[in-house]
Parts: sequence; structure tokens; C-alpha cells
Amino acid sequence: MTDTATPATTTVAAALASLRPEEITAARAILERDGLLGPDTHVSYFGLLEQDKRTLLAPGAVPEARRFRAMLVDLASGASFDVVVCPAEDRVVSAVELDPAQGQVPVVLAEFGLVEEIVHQDARWLAAMAKRGLTDLSTLRVNPLSAGVLAPEESGRRIQRCFTFVQKTPDDLGWAHPVDGVTVMVDVVTREVLDVIDYVDLPVPQEDGNFHLPEWVGKPPRAGLKPIEITQPEGPSFTIDDDGVLSWAGWKLQVSFDQREGLVFHNVSIDDDGEQRPVLYRASIAEMMVPYGDPSPQRWFQNFFDCGEYLLGGFANSLELGCDCVGDITYLDATLADNAGEVRVVPQTICIHEEDTGILWKHFDNWNGSSDSRRNRRLVVSFFVTVGNYDYGFYWYFSLDGAIELEVKATGVVFTSAYPGPGYAYASELAPGLGAPYHQHLFSARLDMMVDGTRNNVDELEAVLVPRGPENPTGTGITQTVTRLRTEKEAQRMADNARGRVWLVSNPHKQNRLGRDVGYVLFPEGRPALLADEQSDIHARATYSAKHLWVTPYEPGELYPAGDLVNMHPGGAGLPAWTAADRDVEDADVVLWHTFGLTHFPRIEDWPIMPVDSAGFVLKPHGFFGANPTMDIPEPAAHCAPGQHGHGHAAPEHASHGHEGHGHDGHDHDGHDHEGRHA
Ligand code: CU
Repeated sequence: MTDTATPATTTVAAALASLRPEEITAARAILERDGLLGPDTHVSYFGLLEQDKRTLLAPGAVPEARRFRAMLVDLASGASFDVVVCPAEDRVVSAVELDPAQGQVPVVLAEFGLVEEIVHQDARWLAAMAKRGLTDLSTLRVNPLSAGVLAPEESGRRIQRCFTFVQKTPDDLGWAHPVDGVTVMVDVVTREVLDVIDYVDLPVPQEDGNFHLPEWVGKPPRAGLKPIEITQPEGPSFTIDDDGVLSWAGWKLQVSFDQREGLVFHNVSIDDDGEQRPVLYRASIAEMMVPYGDPSPQRWFQNFFDCGEYLLGGFANSLELGCDCVGDITYLDATLADNAGEVRVVPQTICIHEEDTGILWKHFDNWNGSSDSRRNRRLVVSFFVTVGNYDYGFYWYFSLDGAIELEVKATGVVFTSAYPGPGYAYASELAPGLGAPYHQHLFSARLDMMVDGTRNNVDELEAVLVPRGPENPTGTGITQTVTRLRTEKEAQRMADNARGRVWLVSNPHKQNRLGRDVGYVLFPEGRPALLADEQSDIHARATYSAKHLWVTPYEPGELYPAGDLVNMHPGGAGLPAWTAADRDVEDADVVLWHTFGLTHFPRIEDWPIMPVDSAGFVLKPHGFFGANPTMDIPEPAAHCAPGQHGHGHAAPEHASHGHEGHGHDGHDHDGHDHEGRHA
């Protein structure tokens, strides 16, 4: 051990920062020394085990030495371990062998290649392929899909259910040619094919989808698109320190990156006249799951938990300046452990920049003649992952007006099938004979709230129809009801856009200048939650996704809404298990779990690659400040200065006076809106 392996953890920010390479190296050495890394052991997950928030935030507390969690699986024996290791104390704190019937550690990279190797040697699968005229093994890609537990004899095994695709040449997009109807079950520990089920013989779609090849696209690049350049001649307005603490326009937030959740934010606060006021203790995407809605026998089980089964953060892309990100960009690398437990740095994973987002506020006053406007901008912190066929971008926005927004951008290639024929109820036809099963993308944002402190309430606000009566004789009354959500069961809620239903997180111990509790409101998009029925396998495994809102009191071990070990888990873990106790969430340290997402009926325009579709949510201050918090935002530029009243003469005056010295063309205040939302 060297001093560099035990960095000082003297501040809260240092205690919560991303993994440091020397910590990974030291942890691996301890695991090896203590005999936990055998020749067939794979490090499935490695991440920071955060200290209990209650002790970390206690006044005068000194943070404890950083501990790390490692999930290990031996692919020869099937044994798996959940290990806590502390490099600073040079010891394994605990090592628990897991009961495989209660779930498996997440899929490791080696399993992907292994599955194809095993399936390629199976006589039953070879016969099923030969029956379809498919005999060239070099063109047959075997796609392993997380399996769930569908029969008692599958419990405790480490299984992948596999589909086959034809990749005509090494350059070909295999997703264009699904060999539908054949499902292969592989036990990756015993390395045996458990079953090959040949349900139905559907023709393999033949049309290519090679969007990455100019010769396939077959037309020249579209002409006439002139350059758009975003420049910040004085540099960006934010700073970031070694622990990932970002400061921008009054906001402070700590950025870190986790193999399971991707971006994690801690201690998000905003300045209010010199006071740095907390809003969130921790925010992340704690799960996302894609249930497919085609109940045909070969694919009804199909659903993917991209965090719990696949560790989404581990599939982060390296972003390229000028392509993936434009403007004045600051990148952070992601430091992770690979499956051998060694340091793996993914360059340029986190993209940080600020962008103009159009008008913040504007008014021309007919009575006093004033004309004022201000421009809004936001700090954007984002990353992109590729999980199999799909790609997801996670864009967190922090705006001048105090709003926090998440936009998830879904793109990539839709999951394909053979289209059975006209009128099929569960898939779209995207190319001749090529289907795309209907599906959902259901995310769970874990929002550990801290609105001016750790004791908060949650209320449901909604518009109500006021009945005609003595108080409302004209029938035109509009009001908003406020309903306290007092317990975990009361706080399991669905959105209702027809009633403008939103959820207010407020602090009963801190009031605004009008004497009301300060708060932040969660605005849901209100799109469909899980559609599968309550008795279905996927409902049991992803119960979190059946409600738009859950509220729990903070517990340090309650991090993942579908449970800790999601892979091969029979269901019932996570939110349904915790909330069975119906704990009190009034005047409590509340965690909000917000389900949002897309219900995707693929369009023909989603083929061969899908234009970005978005889903997300917004948190906005609600009585948090004493008034609009942006009164001090400066005018966009000198020639919009106060006192230039009136609208009729403003433009000619500007034109005649000119502003040659600025070198601008008169359009410099137009918003770029280059990442603008689509409703
Ligand atoms: Cu989709």
C-alpha cells in the first residue's frame, strides 16, 4: 500500500467522488490476496459503496474511509459473491456468497461471446438453421437475451435466451435479418444448450439496412446546409474541481459516474442571495427496463433491465467533439473497473457545456412603454450508452430559473422480428417482411430530495372541477387541491395530465416570504406506465414501473427499484418489498422514485436507424424563492439596454446606429436551440 492508494477523504465531496484509479488497483490487490479472484472469476460490478447519508451529513462528522462493492461471478462454478472492500484499511470488510435462486450478479462481457460459441455447436440449433437454408455459421449471430425465471427448473441457473440474426457480410447490419421463431436456451455456467424451441418458420427478411454505408444510402449528402457554429469567446461560465463539483450561475452540484447507473449527482444546490440552498442530495437513473409487447411464444418473455441486468454505465460511449457534442465542451473520463478488476478508463464519457435555451422572460408594456427580455441558458451534463441494438443519451439540464430537467434521448436500431402478415396486432412492419415488436422503455429516476434540508413532505396537487353552488354560481371556478401523501402506500401514484397532476416536495421547517413552505414540484410527462397485466411475470419483476410515483423514507441500502440482483430474479424485490411496511413519509427524509418513458409503436421512419425520441421529467421551484429568481440576469447585450422603450422604433434605431465594433450580424441574440425539446 502506498499513500496514493488511500486518498484523504476529509470532505463530503471527496467521500462521494468518482472512483480513483489507485482505489481500483488497491481493491483488486486485496481481493486477489484474500483468494476471492480465481482463474474464472469475473468482476461483474465494481463501485463506490456510499457512506450512510445520515452520518455523512451530520454536523462536524468526518467522512469514513471509502468502501467499494464488488460483485463477482465464477463462470466455471457458478458461485457468486457480494464483497465489500476497503483499500484505506487494507481489508475485505465482508464477502457473502449469494444464493443463485435469489438472483444472479449482472451479465459479464465474456458471456456474450460464449453464448455464440456454444450455440454454434448445437445439433438442434444447426438443424433448425439448416431447415431455413442457413448453413454458413460465419453469418449467423446469436443474440443473448436476459432470461428471467420462467420455470422452476430454471431457478438458480445462469441462463440466456437467444435469438439468431443473419449478418450477410462483416459490414452488414444484422438486425435487418432476424431468424424469427427459434429460441435457444443456454446455461452459461455448465456451457450447455438446455433447449432449442423451433416455434414457427417465418421467412428471414432480406432487405438490407446498412445506413452506415454510403453505397447503401445511395444518394449524395444533402446540399445547402450551411455551417452553424457555437462559440463562447470568453470560455464557458462554469468551473469544476477535482472531486467533480461543478459551479455554474449559482448552481453547485457534484458529478460522478457509476457502472450501474451512469451519471450520479450529489448535493445539488442553488444560490439565493448568497445562501447556497440544497434541492437534491442524490439523483440518478436507478433502473430502466424495456418490456416487449408481442405475446407470441418465441418472444413473450423478452424484456431487458439495462441497469440491473446489464450495468448501463459500463456501456458508455466515448464522445467525439464536433459530432456527438458541439460548442465549447468540457469532457470528463469515466474511471471504471473491467471484468478482470483492472482499471478501465473510458475517455470523454461525460459531456459538460452550457447552451442558450431561448427566451427566459419577455414583456412589452403598453402602459409604461417598457420592453424587456432576458435569455435563458442551461448547464447540460450528459452521456450516451449503447446497450445492444439501442442507444440512449441522458441529458441533465440545470437552468437559470431553478429548473432541473432530465431528457433521455432514445435512438439506435429498433429490435426486429419477422413480420407475420398484414393486420398483425403486436408489431409494425418497417421494411418488406421486417417487423418491430411494440414495446416500452420505462426508466426509474431515483430522486433523493433535500429541499432546504432532509425533512420534507410530499403533496399531490391537481386541478379540480368545482361544482356549481353558492360559492361558484357561474360554474367557472377553477381551483387546485393539495393532498398530503402520508405513507408509502398513499404515495404510490399515477400521473393524470387531464387534471394537471404534479407532486410537490416541500419543507415544513422553512417558509418563503409569504409564510408558505418552500418547495420543488415534479412535473411528470404522464405517458403510459407498465402496460403488462398485474399477474404477468414482468409485472412481478418490474413492479416499480407500474406506478409513476413512489415515495420512500431514505434507507442507505434501498438503491435499485427492481431490487439489487435483477438478473434471473423471480420478482417482488425492490419497491414492492420495501413499501409493504407502509412506512411514514411525512416530515421525513424522502426519496422519490419516478417512472417515465416511451411506449413505442415503431414508425416506418424509425428504420433503419431511429431519429431521437425523448422522454423525461422536470423539477421546478415552487415557492422556493421569494419571486422570480432571475431578476439579476443581465441584458443580452448593450443595445438592448433598459430605457430603449417602445417597439415601433427600436429596430430602425438599431439598424441606423449600427454596432460594427461588435462584428455581429444583428442575429446574435437568436437562440440556437440546437438541442431543443420536442413535445
Ligand atoms: Cu423503442
